[in-house]
Amino acid sequence: MSTVRALVAVFALICGCVIFLVAQTQTPQAPPPQRPNIPDKYTNLQVLPKTISKPELVGIMKQFCITFKVRCSYCHVATDDLSEANFAADDKPTKAEARKLLHSILAVKDQSAEVK
Ligand code: HEC
Repeated sequence: MSTVRALVAVFALICGCVIFLVAQTQTPQAPPPQRPNIPDKYTNLQVLPKTISKPELVGIMKQFCITFKVRCSYCHVATDDLSEANFAADDKPTKAEARKLLHSILAVKDQSAEVK
């Protein structure tokens, strides 16, 4: 009789372990990495067309970062990981400078379009 009990105990122990392991592998799911907090609607575009698409705008912004070897937070009120950001704010003088630059680039582009 005691052998049966021992077997039941061992069996229960194994079951417990298996359940524990399965639970372990399933429950702890890492939270998805925070996606950059870039809005889909833009409220303070003064040079770029207001109808610009998100990929186009983000493409230009990334180009800024590559050209000047800076992060978004160089021109924008934003944390480095962009978990918090206010891209519409004009607090940083670097943004104003970049806006002037953008204005000149687009003006040249328009002129060359007229020449064609
Ligand atoms: C060199 C400066 C500079 C850098 C770096 C930069 N931006 Fe910008 N960003 C600007 C300027 C200037 C404008 C405004 C353009 C306009 O007025 O048409 C702008 C506008 C925006 C807007 C629109 C905000 C609104 O609501 O009007 C978003 C969103 C944005 N940037 C995202 C980004 C992201 C994301 C990055 C990093 C990948 C980035 N920017 C890096 C200069 C910069």
